[in-house]
Amino acid sequence: MPFANLLYSVDDEGVAVVTLNRPEQLNALNAQLVEDLEGVVEQARADAGVRAVVITGAGEKAFAAGADIAEFAGMDARDAHRLSARGQALLSSLEAMSKPVVAAVNGFALGGGCELALACHLRVAHQRAQFGLPEVTLGLIPGYGGTQRLPRIVGRGVAAEMVLTGERVTAQRAYEIGLVNRVVDDDVVGAARALALTIAGRAPIAIELALGALRASELPLDAGLAQERALFAQCFATEDYAEGVSAFLSRRQPQFKGR
Ligand code: COA
Repeated sequence: MPFANLLYSVDDEGVAVVTLNRPEQLNALNAQLVEDLEGVVEQARADAGVRAVVITGAGEKAFAAGADIAEFAGMDARDAHRLSARGQALLSSLEAMSKPVVAAVNGFALGGGCELALACHLRVAHQRAQFGLPEVTLGLIPGYGGTQRLPRIVGRGVAAEMVLTGERVTAQRAYEIGLVNRVVDDDVVGAARALALTIAGRAPIAIELALGALRASELPLDAGLAQERALFAQCFATEDYAEGVSAFLSRRQPQFKGR
């Protein structure tokens, strides 16, 4: 099914590439694009042939320059609440995917665009990319999870500076503060794809459980440790665990089946 504001393709290795496709508006997240993203998350989740997802923006300039400011006209507090709830639910469902999701940040990632990147499991940036949460320059605060995910990724001190000043940071600075995992000066989608494929080559159930365990790092330590040991124990019931250990002992590459 084609999407109005994004491109979607799955390559032979099972990597789904989602391209936000409103380059003239710097891929700003309008209502149609949000709806398309809801559909694409569902499609990628349901497709057993998809092993990993890469999200990027069309054009060289922007990953996504935020929510579509033009659509804010005439909105009241109730509409704003609804908009935020929908965006938050979309990004939480993206983050909850059991397949690795990597953002290939090709340019500006501002406001909702930055929040979209934050909800991906990992981020690869082109060196021209810039990240920022400029909402306070518009009399707003981030509403798609930015005040919650950014401090969890970079710590509250650095996040406070970005949220409170609204200033942008370069890709290099984003790397230094742990906001992005890699910075490249050429093919950012290729680099994100390679990273996604490395993860997709590991035991799929272990990856799913590891993602769950990482999410539990937001719980108090004892609760997070309880989650970790429950998930660790689950691994022992999988065929892939038996295969992984047997392959290691016989010095061959494991053939994981996701069981
Ligand atoms: N919503 C709607 N349209 C947007 C947009 C957004 N968030 N960001 C950019 N656009 C549109 C511009 O209105 C412009 O459209 P036009 O050509 O019809 O006038 C087009 O995209 C190009 O943007 P422009 O501002 O001319 O590019 P620039 O190179 O001068 O500046 C940015 C680039 C990213 C710095 C600037 O567009 C910007 O600050 N965007 C808003 C970022 C923001 O505040 N996001 C948070 C929203 S809550």
